[in-house]
Amino acid sequence: MTQEQWTAVDRYITNLLLPPDPALEAALQDSAAAGLPPIHVSPSQGKLLMLLAQIQRARNILEIGTLGGYSTIWLARALPAGGHLISLEASPKHAEVARTNIARAGLADVVEVRLGRAQDSLPQIAAEGRDPFDLIFIDADKPGYVEYFEWALKLSRHGSLIIADNVVRGGAVVDAASSDPTVLGARRFYEFLAAQSSVSAAAIQTVGSKGYDGFAIALVTGDD
Ligand code: SAH
Ligand code: DHB
Ligand code: MG
Repeated sequence: MTQEQWTAVDRYITNLLLPPDPALEAALQDSAAAGLPPIHVSPSQGKLLMLLAQIQRARNILEIGTLGGYSTIWLARALPAGGHLISLEASPKHAEVARTNIARAGLADVVEVRLGRAQDSLPQIAAEGRDPFDLIFIDADKPGYVEYFEWALKLSRHGSLIIADNVVRGGAVVDAASSDPTVLGARRFYEFLAAQSSVSAAAIQTVGSKGYDGFAIALVTGDD
């Protein structure tokens, strides 16, 4: 199996199941034109995130790692009236591109892009005494995943869903001798996840237009 086949199958599925979407397409075009790296979720992955948020009946969503707001738009579209999404982004340029993309998608009133390192924004959010988040999508720097997951637990409730992207890394995640910080981050993340008694978790390997990677999904069950 080759990348070419994965991309062709992804395109086949996308053409049939995802109607043309001007706001999402413009978000990708303007992100690329602004020089953002093309590391957003694929269209099918974005739609899967939206479906998971809908299944979850999420009213409050937290995203860690906005980039140009592509996954943000998918997730925010799952929200009912009165719903809210906060997305954390460390890069001023990424945040600016994202805000424009999100506004074009008609979601400026629903989405707050918070500029700053997630390590700094997460304690601030915790101090604000908000309702717990129903769904949390972790997709920023991989070495930070354990810390982000710890915050996600603090900011969630029984029944919240925590999703983490890029936890397979072309299969490199099984290489215990790896010195790649993204692989080390993913491995630390699995070890941390395995030690949690308050979540029920699975991870799925994926192939597609973004190559061979995967995501983890954890349901917060409480210590029961
Ligand atoms: N979720 C996006 C992709 C995010 S890429 C999508 O699928 O469309 C990862 C993003 O995390 C980048 O924009 C990067 O600038 C941001 N990032 C990296 N380290 C961060 C940190 N410590 N805090 C917040 N954002 C960070
Ligand atoms: C890459 C992909 C991602 O989805 C991400 O969040 C970060 C990096 C990558 O392919 O390098
Ligand atoms: Mg990602």
